[in-house]
Amino acid sequence: MSKFDLVIKGGTVVTASDTFKADLGVKNEKVIEIGIDLCTEGAEVVDASGKYVFPGGIDPHTHMDMPFGGTYSSDDFKTGTIAAACGGTTTIVDFAIQQNGKTLKDATDTWREKADGKAVIDYGIHISVTDLNDDILNEMPEIIKQGYSSFKMFMTYDGLRVDDGTIIRTLMKVNESGGLACVHAENYYVIDYLTKKFREEGKGEPIYHALSRPDLAEGEAAGRAIKLAKIANAPLCIVHNSCEASVSEIARARAEGYPIIGETCPQYLLLSEDNYREPDFNGAKYVMSPPLRDKKNWPTMWKALKDNTVQFVATDHCPFFMKQKEMGKEFFAQIPNGAPGVELRMSLMYTYGVAEGKFDLNRFVQVTSTNAAKVYGMYPQKGTIAVGSDADIVVFDPNVEIVATKSMLHENVDYTPYEGFKLKGAPVVTISRGSIVAKDGQFVGKEGAGKFVIRKAPTLI
Ligand code: URP
Ligand code: ZN
Ligand code: ZN
Repeated sequence: MSKFDLVIKGGTVVTASDTFKADLGVKNEKVIEIGIDLCTEGAEVVDASGKYVFPGGIDPHTHMDMPFGGTYSSDDFKTGTIAAACGGTTTIVDFAIQQNGKTLKDATDTWREKADGKAVIDYGIHISVTDLNDDILNEMPEIIKQGYSSFKMFMTYDGLRVDDGTIIRTLMKVNESGGLACVHAENYYVIDYLTKKFREEGKGEPIYHALSRPDLAEGEAAGRAIKLAKIANAPLCIVHNSCEASVSEIARARAEGYPIIGETCPQYLLLSEDNYREPDFNGAKYVMSPPLRDKKNWPTMWKALKDNTVQFVATDHCPFFMKQKEMGKEFFAQIPNGAPGVELRMSLMYTYGVAEGKFDLNRFVQVTSTNAAKVYGMYPQKGTIAVGSDADIVVFDPNVEIVATKSMLHENVDYTPYEGFKLKGAPVVTISRGSIVAKDGQFVGKEGAGKFVIRKAPTLI
């Protein structure tokens, strides 16, 4: 019997802390040896010479098959995870939405039905708490034990938003039960007022989506959520930070020693509110919340990513076809919120982060994989290359130069917000628990091969 099922040979291995030349020996879905000139007899061999060997990407914020604004996001767990795999991501964490009057278990059952047997890479599931009562609070310890250890609360959106009472109670219960609470931070009342005002004034174009959701409305909500976390003596993760107004709140709290975690997304580092002014309703492509911001936020966002004010980059992948976006042709508030991004995250972060000198290779691994694994209770099973870890690996060619365009992508949607973006560096082989799932940008894996990841308590970083 051969020693290894798979050997990844001759590459430069990069982890969150180290960069070194080595072969990786994989057996039974795990990395079992890291060394020089490993025996390849009887094993499948991936030639990684001249390439980087990274831990598989972890995208901790996706919305597959998500009901939103009277429609559903257009990628399901099959198409969305194929796209993720082709882009070098080996684990996603998606959000199960609690329906009004239903339990958390109902939400996780619904999401497991969407994902099990369909996903091609591994997946965790957060829960979005939308309707809290004592029974739901009492459900939390058991649901956390089952591996659903993080809970997002929306501070805005009609039908999904929760009040501050829900936030503080959830923060306390989740923390004492070994989980992590997260928030979508935007001030509901500001947005509601401005949206109604723009409607009365006949201002319906996509740019008014951004103007109805000012950066300070995000900063206010982030600051308020942080104060609630301080009162609850609990950690908190603020997802999809878009601007200086929110990351400055995180920076301040972290400087004071509070365990506040921040996420951002490529769109807030690379796109701006100018995109909403693209003609012919093209601005609708970028309608997401929080909205794209003034470019002047970009340096602050990159700095926050480098200096660990923000710990990881997710995509908030939530695609809708332009036909779906047209639901809001007359008025921006009817455009379903969200945009695609799961397939380009690794290349975008390598190109505009590493190749442009904003941070080094080890920081790239931290923000695209390791830190999300730690915060969301998957480390060291995921998020690193170490003996005993899952063989979730991406072989990445730093010399590939391509221009992003929709036709090369697998996302089930008819545009990419990154059309025309120059990319330097791309995944050439993606390996999920020892099996090759994508090669040269094409899917070669199996529907349903992805497994649910039982996540544990957060490691705060
Ligand atoms: O616009 C967005 N972000 N849509 C997905 C739902 C959310 O708020 O994360
Ligand atoms: Zn959100
Ligand atoms: Zn989201």
